[in-house]
Amino acid sequence: MERDRIRVAVLFGGRSCEHEVSVISARSVVAAIPRDKYEVVLIGISKDGRWYLADDESSMLAGSTVTGDAGTAVTLDCCDVHGMLCSRESGHGAGRQVDVFFPLLHGPYGEDGTVQGLLELANVAYVGAGVTGSAVGMDKQLARRVFQAANLPQLKHVVIRRSRWEDQRAAVLDMVENRLTFPVFVKPACMGSSIGVGKARTRLELEPAMDDAAQYDVKIMVEEAAENCREVEVSILGNEAPQASVPGEIVPGHEFYDYQAKYVDDSSQLVVPARITPETATRIQKLAIAAFHAVDAAGLSRVDFFVRKTDEFVYLNEINTMPGFTPISMYPKLWQASGIGYADLVDRLIGLAMERWRETQRKRIVL
Ligand SMILES: Nc1ncnc2c1ncn2[C@@H]1O[C@H](COP(=O)(O)OP(=O)(O)O)[C@@H](O)[C@H]1O
Ligand SMILES: [Mg+2]
Repeated sequence: MERDRIRVAVLFGGRSCEHEVSVISARSVVAAIPRDKYEVVLIGISKDGRWYLADDESSMLAGSTVTGDAGTAVTLDCCDVHGMLCSRESGHGAGRQVDVFFPLLHGPYGEDGTVQGLLELANVAYVGAGVTGSAVGMDKQLARRVFQAANLPQLKHVVIRRSRWEDQRAAVLDMVENRLTFPVFVKPACMGSSIGVGKARTRLELEPAMDDAAQYDVKIMVEEAAENCREVEVSILGNEAPQASVPGEIVPGHEFYDYQAKYVDDSSQLVVPARITPETATRIQKLAIAAFHAVDAAGLSRVDFFVRKTDEFVYLNEINTMPGFTPISMYPKLWQASGIGYADLVDRLIGLAMERWRETQRKRIVL
């Protein structure tokens, strides 16, 4: 390599309700990337999906959303030169060839395999899960099926297509009432950050909760509530032989861990380590690694559980293949508590991305 530093492009913002969360994650990751080893290229994605190469880092990261004001419109060349950014106006190389991408994007069009597919086509290394792991991890219905096949314990649930909900509301309400016991949680299948998530105690409450969730996806998941449980999360780091952090616990300031409680007020508490027995902690770490392998994740994930207070029975809730990465986020906090500091973590993730890319280059693509 002609350059002595590895060029890392941090992709953030994006076409998702979680755009603002991504901007906050990017601010802290960018500040933590060790500059002696890495050169940082910042690419903001606006809410309408345009990519802007930052003219300077601080102005691009200053606002709560990405706009074109602080950058040059670029695209990624997927045909010729690996990892080359092109100016959108001229179509010529913007003179920036990227060694590794950090898609710090949450939710649809970022954490769901779409951006990962683009990066695969460009044959460039990137942090986190590939197309399959990202797509399965994002889709709560598919993730549940894969977890089921791996014998991982989960709550009883049903999935309803929005089209069916719109055509047969009464029949859907009957079906949910017959199959599940209230209270239930209603969520869009492919979302995150608790957007569109609601709790329904009765059939009467179920209807508006379904309408709300239906705004965000074509599939709606309804699931029995985990009552009298702790919410316990584990961070995973690695590729083929991943490690699990100490488990941490969330004590939501609201009735459940909704968007407000996650990002807006500071009513929620993170308790590290989680208040569970060492045996349960070990079990959760094993289940988290099993969930990571089950969906074919890579690099990092945060795996979330419910643990019943009475007998410590464990239910797997979900896997997040690109978890929140703000300084107060659970993912880096749990590594901190397990002996890996924030900057070291970022460095390891970039290293894992390059290691994985090298592994994929070993695949035979001609007969
Ligand atoms: N079955 C459930 N029982 C109890 N609480 C739940 C359940 N499902 C979701 N929640 C609450 O809603 C929050 C968001 O739901 P989650 O499934 O994690 O979706 P998201 O992908 O939006 O984070 C959880 O952190 C938890 O507080
Ligand atoms: Mg969650």
